[in-house]
Parts: sequence; C-alpha cells; structure tokens
Amino acid sequence: MKLLVVVASTRPTRVGPAVAGWFLSQVPADPDLEVDVADLAEIALPFLDEPVDAHSGGYVHAHTLAWSARVDAADAVVLVMPEYNRGYTAPLKNALDYLADEWRDKPVGFVSYGMSSGGMRAVEAITPVVVALGMVPIASAVTVHLRRWLDDDGRIQDDGSLAQAATRMLAEVRRLAAALRPATVGV
Ligand SMILES: Cc1cc2nc3c(=O)[nH]c(=O)nc-3n(C[C@H](O)[C@H](O)[C@H](O)COP(=O)(O)O)c2cc1C
Repeated sequence: MKLLVVVASTRPTRVGPAVAGWFLSQVPADPDLEVDVADLAEIALPFLDEPVDAHSGGYVHAHTLAWSARVDAADAVVLVMPEYNRGYTAPLKNALDYLADEWRDKPVGFVSYGMSSGGMRAVEAITPVVVALGMVPIASAVTVHLRRWLDDDGRIQDDGSLAQAATRMLAEVRRLAAALRPATVGV
C-alpha cells in the first residue's frame, strides 16, 4: 500500500515539517507500506493554471502531470494540516483543486494542529471538500494542540496519547484502503 502524506503549510517558519516528521516516526516499518511525503512548499504549485478543469482531463502543464501521477499512485492520503483563520490553508485547497479522479475512492486521514482547537475546525472545514472529490474521510483523527505538545525547540513531545491516536488513524486508513482498492481497479 502506498500512503501519500501531504504537508499542507508553506510558510518559511512553519511547524508543518516538525508535525509531519513526528507523524512519520509513528508509521511502523512495514514492507507492505510505502510512504511518499508531498511537501506543498517544495512542490510549489502555482495557483491553479490549467485551462480546462480536472474533470474534463487534458492537463497541459508539467507541474500538473507530475502532481497527478503522484496522487494517482497513492492508495491513501494523510493530510498534515494547520488551522488558519478557522479553516484550512490555501495551498492545500489549491493542491486538491488541481486534480479530480486521482483523489477518488481514497481514504483520507487527518493530522491537524493549531493553537486553540488543535486544527479541528480546519478538519471540519475541509471534510466537505474531500467528500466532493470522492475521498473517504477517516473519523479518528490526530489533533495536535501546539500549546500543549510543541516544546521550545519546535519538536512534538507526546505523552503517548498522540501516538495512540496516530496508530488508530493509520490502522483505519489502511483498513479502508484495502477495502476500497477493488473500487479503484481499472478506473
Ligand atoms: C494565517 C494564520 C492563521 C491562523 N489561524 C489560526 C486559527 O484560526 N486557529 C488556531 O488555532 N490557530 C491559528 N493559527 C496558528 C497556527 O495554527 C499555528 O501558527 C501553526 O503553527 C501554523 O502552521 P504552520 O506553522 O505549519 O504554518 C494561525 C496561523 C496563521 C499563520
């Protein structure tokens, strides 16, 4: 199974890579699990610039074709996403909007983070978006309250409860990915 982990923030001083690094350290080594980390700051997609919408196909830009191939190859997705103004980040919405069928029938888990709600409101806000793309959102999420779990060196210090949540979410993502795989064959 191939898991795409998307790092959804792009600011130069962002916490995203630290949260993603912590999450990746919770993913057990398993020959049946391949992880691809898609850092939206590195990928640097421009604001959607395809002339035709993704449902109609026919991408013209190399950055879209590369992003399409990467998402298409994944069986499941985990979004490592902060809360910005009670919503999700603009680069994440842009990256989702670029594609259509590539997202369909894939489970999506959330590792959210933020100051006041641990990013839960961002997850609530993005749920209808991923559903519109045909993804299957996982209810058991990892919610990182930065004031509690981020230490002065910018690292996640967990008492075990976040790790437990990550294990539960990953198990659910993998279970659903296996169940949904027949739906994606030949599509
Ligand atoms: C533009 C912006 C808006 C924010 N809005 C919220 C918010 O609504 N709720 C919240 O809990 N934290 C909010 N924060 C705090 C972020 O969750 C926190 O700074 C987090 O580190 C941002 O992720 P990043 O460092 O990966 O960019 C906001 C931060 C930024 C930069």
